[in-house]
Parts: sequence; C-alpha cells; structure tokens
Amino acid sequence: MAVTRTFSIIKPDATRRNLTGAVTKMLEEAGLRVVASKRIHMTRDQAEGFYAVHKERPFYNDLCDFMTSGPVVVQVLEGEDAVARNRQVMGATNPAQADEGTIRKTYAESIEANSVHGSDSDENAKIEIDFFFSPDEIVG
Ligand code: CMP
Repeated sequence: MAVTRTFSIIKPDATRRNLTGAVTKMLEEAGLRVVASKRIHMTRDQAEGFYAVHKERPFYNDLCDFMTSGPVVVQVLEGEDAVARNRQVMGATNPAQADEGTIRKTYAESIEANSVHGSDSDENAKIEIDFFFSPDEIVG
C-alpha cells in the first residue's frame, strides 16, 4: 500500500472542549503521522471557499457560521492509504451512524459539530492541503 497524504480539520466543537490532543492521539493510533499542523481562526472567505462544493446545500450557511465560530486545527496527515485510513478512524459524518471507537462516535456532538473533517479522495486531499498549506510548512 502506498504512503499518501490527506487533509484533516479538528473543528470548533473539539477545540472548544480542549480535545485537540485526544483527537490527534486517535489519528496517530490509527497509523497516521501529523506532518503539518496549525491552529487558525478561519475567515468567512476561507470557510466559504473551502466548502464551496456544498454551496447549494441547505446547511451551507450554518456550516460556514460554525466553522468560523472558534479556532480549528488544520493538519496534513501521512500514512499508508491515508484518505481511507482517516475516514475509517473518523467514522460516519453523522455521529449517530458512526461505528464504536471512531472519533465522531466518541466526541461528535451533532452532524454539524462532528469534531473532524477529512478529505474524501486523493484528488480532494491535494486541493484541500494546497488551500491551507504551502509546501515548506509540510515536514514529512
Ligand atoms: P465535513 O466532512 O466537514 O463536510 C461537510 C460538512 O457539512 C460535514 O462534515 C458536516 O459536518 C456538515 N453538515 C451539516 N449538515 C449536514 C448534512 N445534513 N449532511 C451532510 N453534512 C452536513
């Protein structure tokens, strides 16, 4: 299996509850390495741009409000089959449907305040990493 990269966000509901370390521990225990990380307060422009693919969805505005409501931690994760590995440890988008032992089952409050975001494909991982990081910020 090839070593690849994916993009992760620890969302405002998790930073508010001081869960950055707990979430990162679960990512690391799943075999992912944090090769870039920064805590930021997303601007409205960043949130709208990042989630532009959801622009027509009814939850888009609330999602952008939520993602700008507090600090987030954006990360680049590296590991074997990183996108799939991260999606497995995150669990389903809706925590009510997430498997036991996943980050969202353990920590998420709702489908919106679901503690983490992770890329859904290698193509989107590259786009999302480039959205928040320059190459010199990623140290593998
Ligand atoms: P994320 O992986 O960050 O990608 C889009 C986000 O929209 C998703 O996680 C959810 O937190 C959020 N969201 C809010 N409402 C919904 C919904 N009804 N269906 C899917 N995603 C939703």
